[in-house]
Amino acid sequence: MGKVQLAPSMMCADIFKLGETIRLFEKLAVPYLHIDVMDGSFVPNIMLGTEAVRQIRQFSVIPMDIHLMIEEPGEKLEWFSPGKGDYVSVHAETTRHLQRVLAKIRSLGARPMAAVNPATPLPAIEEVFPDVDGVLVMTVNPGYAGQRLVPQVLEKIRRLRQTLDERGFEHVEIEVDGNVTMENAVKMRKAGADIFVAGTSLIFRPGNMEEHILGFNRDMQKI
Ligand code: DX5
Ligand code: ZN
Repeated sequence: MGKVQLAPSMMCADIFKLGETIRLFEKLAVPYLHIDVMDGSFVPNIMLGTEAVRQIRQFSVIPMDIHLMIEEPGEKLEWFSPGKGDYVSVHAETTRHLQRVLAKIRSLGARPMAAVNPATPLPAIEEVFPDVDGVLVMTVNPGYAGQRLVPQVLEKIRRLRQTLDERGFEHVEIEVDGNVTMENAVKMRKAGADIFVAGTSLIFRPGNMEEHILGFNRDMQKI
């Protein structure tokens, strides 16, 4: 297992406070900004697009973790100018040529990640383990913030970590996305998760964001 990393979900941020929020993330050395791109087709919602990505990139050097919830992602990768240090995740459910899309992400200089919905079995991505640096396990059905954890995904994370390790892919990171509360994060970490998408359940919940982040880092170190 790799080290614990936090990836704030930027679609949950208050757009009127975006600048100061990102400066806080820089101060606290947050490793990734999680960017949810939704097309209203693969998922029933429309979220962050190319202009948001371009402006955030100009504003901050924090690497991006671009989560593409869009049909035919292979044709649209360049729209987001992925580069060194960025993760780009594509859903196994959105393309018939997953390996090709992952290889293209690598050729653009970014780190490829394969994503799976709660109902998608792990064999859908096992053949592309050599092509990824990470696997994104959706812990809710993608589309909206504020949903409840699909409980059987905890066992799925455990099985994925075990399969990766058995097959020589110990370096492949597991990211979890959806209803990452402090309580769920502990269970997800014990199951083998490394990167935690932090939305309304964690750092964008009411209260002080800096304290939420520091509290997360502190509590996760105890595990
Ligand atoms: C789900 C989104 C998540 C979500 C996480 O499609 O990718 O980023 O916003 O936030 P909460 O904690 O509200 O589930
Ligand atoms: Zn996401």
